[in-house]
Amino acid sequence: MIIDVKTDPDHAASLARQSLDCGEVIGIPTETVYGLAADATNEAAVRRIFELKGRPAHNPLICHCADLEMVRSYAFLDPQSERLARAFWPGPLTMVLRKASQSRLPDVTTAGLGTVAIRVPEGFSRDVIAALGRPVAAPSANISGKVSATQARHVEDDFGTAVEKVFDGGKTAIGIESTILMMVDGVKLLRPGGLSLDAIESLLGFEVEGIGHQEAIVAPGMLSSHYAPRAAVRLNASSFADDEAFIAFGSHSAECKTDRVFNLSPSADLNEAASNLYSMLKLADATGTAAIAIAPIPFLGLGVAINDRLRRAAAPRN
Ligand code: TXA
Ligand code: MG
Repeated sequence: MIIDVKTDPDHAASLARQSLDCGEVIGIPTETVYGLAADATNEAAVRRIFELKGRPAHNPLICHCADLEMVRSYAFLDPQSERLARAFWPGPLTMVLRKASQSRLPDVTTAGLGTVAIRVPEGFSRDVIAALGRPVAAPSANISGKVSATQARHVEDDFGTAVEKVFDGGKTAIGIESTILMMVDGVKLLRPGGLSLDAIESLLGFEVEGIGHQEAIVAPGMLSSHYAPRAAVRLNASSFADDEAFIAFGSHSAECKTDRVFNLSPSADLNEAASNLYSMLKLADATGTAAIAIAPIPFLGLGVAINDRLRRAAAPRN
């Protein structure tokens, strides 16, 4: 069942809070992508997330908190992490922190690690977490390895009636998952995402190691397939064959010629491109084409995260 958030946000938030309190797994919008959410402290509910997604148990979940006070009950915030938190939360940043000694998170949530990935999201999801009073574990609301959901309908397409309630907050604002920083023993980028590395580096005053702007080419064997549509994906395409769908970026002459051509952003705006990425991959896939050709995307701002997702979408399938 899809439940509209916008008509009565307070009612929707209280219904979502109640469902989480009862141990249900629900679909919920965040500013990045839709999450498949459960009370992070409820072991059985969290297990159900892994089952529904087909996610391996060794891959831990992000715990979403309402504020710094809630974060401190579950994780240790060192001064550098706190600076980032104050600058970028609520928002598309996840930090991997040491678990607090009194943390009541079950091992299933954090895959038994001594660390926990934490994010304070913005908007409806944050209101729900504040009302619940406990962190919410939520991976992206897609079957493991498939394209993430940026609309409530996408969640329903993947899970059908197995997820009883999907809260519909419209198309997500950012459209790509959060940036993940490992904050234990220095700062390292684990996943580029909705917060640009430039913004993080200019706050910290130093370069963050990890996936950099130049690291565009990685041996294909090193890539794990993820964010993958059904069709094959061909990157850096300047033209496309008759039997391919095409995802363009910026002005492109073929735009109005076929119903298999999509454009992430005709004005070459990388924020707009990020917000359209997953839905256009799904639309291109739905044309029934054997392959999707995708135009080159600049490695600037959110372009770094877009290229990361595209590389994985194009990686050899497991
Ligand atoms: O924007 C987002 O981050 C979305 C929304 C729903 O918040 N969530 C999301 O979750 O993308 P998920 O599960 O699809 O990706 C979380 C990533 C996984 O790659 C996981 O391995 C990593 O975070 N992760 C979680 N806990 C970790 C930890 N303790 N150490 C290292 N990586 C961790
Ligand atoms: Mg995911």
